[in-house]
Amino acid sequence: MAGLGYRVFKENGLEKLSADYLPSRLPHREKHEEELVKLLAPAILSRGTVTKNVLIAGASGAGKTATARKVAMRLRKIAEENGVKLMHAHINCRYASSNFGLAQMLIGRIVPDARARGYGASELLQAAYSYLDGRSEFLLLVLDDFDQFVKKCGPGILYELMRLPDSSPGKRNRVAMLIIGAEDVSKYLLESWTRSAVTKLPYDFSAYDYREMSDILVERAGESFRDGAIQFEVVLLISRIVERFGFGSARYGIELLQASGLEAEYDGADRVSPECVRRAQSRIEKIVDLRDLSALSSGHVEAIRAIAQVLGESDEAYVPMPKILGRVDKSKRGQVEKLGCFKRLEFEGLVDILDGKVGLVGTTLVAVENWLARLPEE
Ligand SMILES: Nc1ncnc2c1ncn2[C@@H]1O[C@H](COP(=O)(O)OP(=O)(O)OP(=O)(O)O)[C@@H](O)[C@H]1O
Ligand SMILES: [Mg+2]
Repeated sequence: MAGLGYRVFKENGLEKLSADYLPSRLPHREKHEEELVKLLAPAILSRGTVTKNVLIAGASGAGKTATARKVAMRLRKIAEENGVKLMHAHINCRYASSNFGLAQMLIGRIVPDARARGYGASELLQAAYSYLDGRSEFLLLVLDDFDQFVKKCGPGILYELMRLPDSSPGKRNRVAMLIIGAEDVSKYLLESWTRSAVTKLPYDFSAYDYREMSDILVERAGESFRDGAIQFEVVLLISRIVERFGFGSARYGIELLQASGLEAEYDGADRVSPECVRRAQSRIEKIVDLRDLSALSSGHVEAIRAIAQVLGESDEAYVPMPKILGRVDKSKRGQVEKLGCFKRLEFEGLVDILDGKVGLVGTTLVAVENWLARLPEE
């Protein structure tokens, strides 16, 4: 595979699907990005006379870190255009286990050859601040996953960071903070003055719904897959799976997109089929154990048989319900319709119903066919 090059991925396509790749656009986060730039730019352009700290909160995989990286890039550019010296430190607070640890990470990022040993957290923060002061620099400090930290260590370090200008000669505020959490961190701020010193972004980073996810994945697929190697319907299938089983996380969506492409590569195929997606999903996690379905009525089993038949003959991710019903044994058709079999199968996580069409999710077609073949004859 490697020596001959990829069939479905573009050259360097896999890089565009890696965890730290930052795409040029973040669909459905433009509003968040604009607002953050608008909130934070004055703190930087005013050269420290305006104070701004912003909080953002939202679900995992909802684009908080990616948006913060994008905002930092834009602010650095704005600073440069305006002759302001701006540093940027993005710190993942999840990995700090004390105030000292966090202060150490911070000073390590901004002061070259800093020595942390022998000092306390407050001294380190002050040293970092004096360094900025001495060079007339400003700092955009992104405290990522700060909720993880505050639960362990409390909000004390935020108070200290916010008080730093008070003890500096120029009293300028050299640090603008962007504080990120899965939950709203402001509820941990006990001192009321800090609550007014931070602004909450008015937009949440909610989990993406399947439409938003498909916009994101279509764009990412365009960067990473060859033309025609993945169809919109297949991206839609992935997006539905992400909404239903992946908490609307773009991280999960991109992983599933990549894993589906790799399945196609293993097959030597030049297109990603719906079955590649289902196989990739089953490798990531087991959603449906077909043995659990053996207790379903014969009407349900008949519905599954018809779905498998129709999907097996076509390469489509979703097929119209009437087409499937047309395949159900006449004697059972009434039963299938009366029982609302498709709805029940959707509830079980086996199928997905979208605009009157039915797709298979939660397991692979091959697994379903094997399961059907092993069922005892009636
Ligand atoms: N709107 C979007 N457009 C394109 N890619 C996105 C978008 N949102 C998220 N991503 C991508 O999805 C992945 C996860 O996003 P990100 O790391 O920003 O989520 P997060 O909200 O920080 O999650 P966590 O709380 O788990 O840290 C990243 O690879 C990111 O580039
Ligand atoms: Mg993050």
